[in-house]
Amino acid sequence: MRSIRLENVSKSFGDECVLDGINLTMPSGKFFALLGPSGCGKTTILRLIAGLEKSDSGRIFLGDEDITKQPVFRRKINTVFQNYALFPHLTVFENVAYGLRIKNVKELEIYDRVLAQLKSTRLLGCQKKMPSMLSGGQKQRVALARALVGKPEVILFDEPLAALDVKLKERVLVELMELQYELKTTFVYVTHDQAEALTIADKMAIINFDGSIAQIGTPEEIYEFPVSTFVADFVGSTNILEGILHKRNEADFFIDVEAVGVVDLHVEKLKNWIIPGGAVYASIRPEKIEISKTKLSEFSCCFPGVVESTSYAGRFTQYQVNIANGQVVSVFEQNEEHFPKETINDDDQVFLHFQKDNVVLLER
Ligand SMILES: Nc1ncnc2c1ncn2[C@@H]1O[C@H](COP(=O)(O)OP(=O)(O)OP(=O)(O)O)[C@@H](O)[C@H]1O
Ligand SMILES: [Mg+2]
Repeated sequence: MRSIRLENVSKSFGDECVLDGINLTMPSGKFFALLGPSGCGKTTILRLIAGLEKSDSGRIFLGDEDITKQPVFRRKINTVFQNYALFPHLTVFENVAYGLRIKNVKELEIYDRVLAQLKSTRLLGCQKKMPSMLSGGQKQRVALARALVGKPEVILFDEPLAALDVKLKERVLVELMELQYELKTTFVYVTHDQAEALTIADKMAIINFDGSIAQIGTPEEIYEFPVSTFVADFVGSTNILEGILHKRNEADFFIDVEAVGVVDLHVEKLKNWIIPGGAVYASIRPEKIEISKTKLSEFSCCFPGVVESTSYAGRFTQYQVNIANGQVVSVFEQNEEHFPKETINDDDQVFLHFQKDNVVLLER
């Protein structure tokens, strides 16, 4: 299996510049996710890799091979589209066989390979059905079988689960991860669902609204160490506090959040752009905040606040808390403890606590 590499790739439609010189490597044999808001250029990136669209400049590589000018049918790359793009007038068997037919594979081999593929994608009883007779999940599996049967080196997925319900989606995601692990085919998976991307990806790229790359990393790196407020807010949810950075001494910095208090910082998180006296953001995830009616001594930061609303969401309870600068801070509290917890209601005076390790410093 080989990697996919985009080198300085640009693409415009008319006078709209969608991609402006992007560089991106999707590692070989891994599950790579492209995550970004609607309209940022995700589908365009996939279509360029597949050869369905031509870049204005830059080059695309499959491993060391320059495929920029290679025609679609020559590329060892298949795509699973959001709407599955099945041929409505062909049976399930013929849909899956199509790619082999156009490559002039012998009839007997087609038969064996298609049946084996239908079996492994749990579609055996369906081979004579027309696409219109299938459920959403089955259509999705036919599209997958069609992409897999030619044994491509890379499979591109363009939001393939968008039409499935939550439960089925969870199951198919696990199946896809197992399949990728088994085949070691390079998977490139486009989604705008951040939870989906975090679950499946070995590595992911976050794309900005303007089509530029905001961050590349493992799901953990991206969630725990976002490099900008856009990434912090787009992947998961977070609280962003504005403040001024100050220095106590060489190894000790803190952020002064006006009218609220002080946020201590872990010195290893300091970056080279940091200037004491400058305006910065601190990002704190809602699940890293501990809420209680009394002050707890074991935390490095503590702010008072008033509960604006509480909502029970099964696994966790979400609190919206007004702090002294008028900002509303979101807190997620796990509902897994066995002992009865302190009851917190609307309008209660509370304290929000967090550790400095969980504060991410971001540029303002
Ligand atoms: N064939 C085309 N002609 C003109 N403009 C296009 C074409 N394809 C895409 N665009 C424009 O390029 C931009 C990026 O589109 P793209 O489909 O790549 O976004 P996306 O990230 O896949 O969005 P979504 O999450 O909604 O699918 C959009 O502004 C879109 O209007
Ligand atoms: Mg798209």
